[in-house]
Amino acid sequence: MTTKTLSKDVFNIKDMNLWYGNFHALKNLHLTIPEKEVTAIIGPSGCGKSTFIKTLNLMVNRVAGVRVSGELLFFNDKNLLSKNVDLVKLRKQVGMIFQKGNPFPQSIYDNVAYGPKIHGVKKKQILDEIVETSLKKVALWEEVKDRLNSSALGLSGGQQQRLCIARTIATKPDVVLMDEPTSALDPIATMRIEELIAELKDQYTIVTVTHNMQQAARISDQTAFFLHGEIIETSDTNSLFSMPKDRRTEDYITGKFG
Ligand SMILES: Nc1ncnc2c1ncn2[C@@H]1O[C@H](COP(=O)(O)OP(=O)(O)OP(=O)(O)O)[C@@H](O)[C@H]1O
Ligand SMILES: [Mg+2]
Repeated sequence: MTTKTLSKDVFNIKDMNLWYGNFHALKNLHLTIPEKEVTAIIGPSGCGKSTFIKTLNLMVNRVAGVRVSGELLFFNDKNLLSKNVDLVKLRKQVGMIFQKGNPFPQSIYDNVAYGPKIHGVKKKQILDEIVETSLKKVALWEEVKDRLNSSALGLSGGQQQRLCIARTIATKPDVVLMDEPTSALDPIATMRIEELIAELKDQYTIVTVTHNMQQAARISDQTAFFLHGEIIETSDTNSLFSMPKDRRTEDYITGKFG
């Protein structure tokens, strides 16, 4: 007898709206983010991509005057928008990577050990193990193992971005959000991050924003096309790029605007 693990939904977004003051930035969003898949968010500048992914870990709530309504179910359990949410726990479960690697001005080792330390890991031996495994997972270990105590700011842009991914996965999140993780990188560093994303999805659910259509097509399982704060179309990535259902999606992916 075979047992098949049913894939779970990590986020279930229903009728979500967001306002910055009077500005209606996200409109009636419906989207399901399946576990251990890569979801790509595409769309022209200003359409709400960053706003959207920052709602998933409630980071957007830091903005003064922001208001969010609707449902954002996390593992079909709690609506993150209505209940009291433990933000420290949520940020551990939902990590985030930004456009430019933003390591702390500390050593390579301390950047990776930071999260586990905050969450109570004290033993040097365990921290050493976490640092090594995390750096190996992002294929940075060989490059930095002899200079773990040097400043992270001395690394190249691509190395810094991989370090930030190592820092994020060191706390074993369920989800990794990425906002244009390769837009500041050269093609080779970009390719390494794309390969890394492909490997990480065995263990993690990834939601990534990208302006690069080829990248979305290469790395994602599902793609959502945003326009003026709305989701125009969501499909499995192959269908969205080969047979877009909406004219606006077709115009965007064929470069007619953007
Ligand atoms: N803190 C804020 N206060 C008010 N309006 C904001 C704020 N942040 C974003 N916006 C507005 O919300 C809309 C969506 O912005 P967002 O940054 O989510 O777009 P984006 O799709 O990520 O764009 P880009 O591709 O340029 O990064 C824009 O009109 C933007 O001006
Ligand atoms: Mg953005």
